[in-house]
Amino acid sequence: MSERAAVSAETRWLAYRQEFPIFERLTYFNSCSLGALSARVVAAIATFTELWDARGAAAWYGPWLEESEHLRSRFAALIGASAEEVAIFPSVTSALTSVASCFDYRSRPRVVLSELEFPTTVYQWLTKASLGVQLQRLRSQDRMTVALDDYERAVDPRTQLVVGSHVYFTSGMIQDVAALARLAHSHGAYCLIDAYQSIGQLPVNVREAGVDFLVTGGLKWLLGGPGVAYLYVRREVAGRLQPSDVGWFAHRRQFDFDITTFEFEYAEGARRFEGGTPSVAAIYAGRAGLEIVREIGVEALRARQVELMRSLVEAARRAGLRPRVPQDLNRLAGILTLPRQDPRRVVSALAERGVVVDSRPGLIRLSPYFYNTVEDCDRVVQAVTDLERSGVAS
Ligand SMILES: Cc1ncc(COP(=O)(O)O)c(C=O)c1O
Repeated sequence: MSERAAVSAETRWLAYRQEFPIFERLTYFNSCSLGALSARVVAAIATFTELWDARGAAAWYGPWLEESEHLRSRFAALIGASAEEVAIFPSVTSALTSVASCFDYRSRPRVVLSELEFPTTVYQWLTKASLGVQLQRLRSQDRMTVALDDYERAVDPRTQLVVGSHVYFTSGMIQDVAALARLAHSHGAYCLIDAYQSIGQLPVNVREAGVDFLVTGGLKWLLGGPGVAYLYVRREVAGRLQPSDVGWFAHRRQFDFDITTFEFEYAEGARRFEGGTPSVAAIYAGRAGLEIVREIGVEALRARQVELMRSLVEAARRAGLRPRVPQDLNRLAGILTLPRQDPRRVVSALAERGVVVDSRPGLIRLSPYFYNTVEDCDRVVQAVTDLERSGVAS
């Protein structure tokens, strides 16, 4: 890139940064926990309340449901799916509950899961032993990722479902989800990907990846805050599954309010997995956040992330902070972890200095996004170094 082009690209990123007021006060470096709040999201939530006030219940059947459909289409386009393949939930947990209710575990009891998954995915199947579920637990050799060989050894014709993360929340490592899908399918099993830590910051095409289910949500890299999660269900798969955990939004003719037949007619596509009344305020926020991601483009976001992560890794290495990174940095998304004995103490000491990062057991997590700068990376590294010198961050 010429110097001129680099300057104009940086000017564009700085213009986006100005949409996030938190940077006037803090060095915010925790998008893997919660994406920063933008002025656009604030305005979208105001629109939701204005419509509520102006129209009362009429807001429901008009703009509120329309907004939900716009969100569905926008999200679908982001992951290379069609709108019919996307269901909307208030959390990933509720999406997983619906998916888990589809299967007959007597014929295929096994669910393959690694110890690096986010707890909610593990808990979902850990609590289903009474339905016949047998968990196949995979260990991580390096605490960073799970080897495909270990999946290969675990998956067999007794496997119902292979569940894996696209990006591991405690290491930032990127998993090869297309390989997981191929492996699951070669044994007649389904593949479900938890992509909460990837959608937004990494380009994903669900069709090319071949996964059957994918879950994610608005909290982090989609900039929409809490209250909206998404479930993608591959078209060919949705048609043959009948979740037992459903609500009235999963009915083919939900607004007929007709229960006299006592028959449940499943909606087409992924909608058949949906539950009850959605969180409309969160849908407004979710769409506004998603709009920023869409406007910038995921390829550009990834390129920016790679640049910031390289600066961060180099600065952390120079300062002797012992970052956990793979040899090939392309295998890492926007989460850098530093092993620390008392990570919570480090996080609160940094917060007192205006630097917001996050902890997980034994680690602090640093996660830049496009609105951060190389100077932010240096500032965070400097703050951790200063703490080490003062004896807090060991
Ligand atoms: C990888 C991953 N999966 C799932 C979740 C959240 O799931 P839920 O929406 O059920 O709270 C998170 C973060 O909060 C996450 O990092």
